[in-house]
Amino acid sequence: MQATVRGVKIGYDDVGTGMPVVFVHAFPMNRTMWRQQVEAVRGQWRAIAVDLRGFGESEMGDEPFTMDACADDVMALLDHLQIQEPVVLVGLSMGGYVAFGCVRRHAHRLRGLVLADTRAEPDTEEGRAGRYELAGKVEAEGVGPVIEGMLPRLVSDTTRSRRPQVVSELRALMEAARPRTVAAALRALAERPDSRPDLARIAVPTLVVVGEEDVITPPDAARAMHGAIPGSRLEIIPGVGHMPNLEAPDAFNTALVDFLSRVAAS
Ligand code: MLT
Repeated sequence: MQATVRGVKIGYDDVGTGMPVVFVHAFPMNRTMWRQQVEAVRGQWRAIAVDLRGFGESEMGDEPFTMDACADDVMALLDHLQIQEPVVLVGLSMGGYVAFGCVRRHAHRLRGLVLADTRAEPDTEEGRAGRYELAGKVEAEGVGPVIEGMLPRLVSDTTRSRRPQVVSELRALMEAARPRTVAAALRALAERPDSRPDLARIAVPTLVVVGEEDVITPPDAARAMHGAIPGSRLEIIPGVGHMPNLEAPDAFNTALVDFLSRVAAS
């Protein structure tokens, strides 16, 4: 489905009824990466999966691509869907950075947070320079250099050998991304703010979840967030890397549904 919000067509799925659970995807993917989680949740709650601007079925628009603009888009979509009650926001990696934007700008609209394979700290100078260089390459050559750089690091060795179809699925998700969006998102990732000062102010139930073998946003980053977010829970999923929702969907969904049940009961 598509809705026009803030002057941009945004792609989304909206299935089920009850407590709204909003899924925000990683870079450079789209909402279909949450397919198995939407299926796991829709019987009990309302699952909304969003394509961030420029990704999937969403248009890019004219406003600069920033994590905060994406956060505003997600909230504008909720307005469009007439969802006034607070939602549980589930963000993986870049989706987590967008969730931090929601914490800063729209905290009163949150009922719970799932921060998956993400981190609160900004890029290092070196990391930032690397993203700018890659953005230039993507504009010249397409998304190939991003896929070559990321795909070998996205999943664990176990996933690569035992579930090669996950690697194929990730490749297809990344190949579907448009170079203009990917370049803009890379620059936005480089410029994203330091979210560490916001962590202590998170006042809703929060699940921090990470793949044990995540080399992009490693378990130490998750432990640091867990330590700084009052009352948060930490779940480390063994044997998987940066994409536990695809690499170990059963374990990820068990942790997610257990957390959502607690939030719904609170
Ligand atoms: C992601 O998975 O969204 C990206 O790896 C995030 C990042 O590069 O910081």
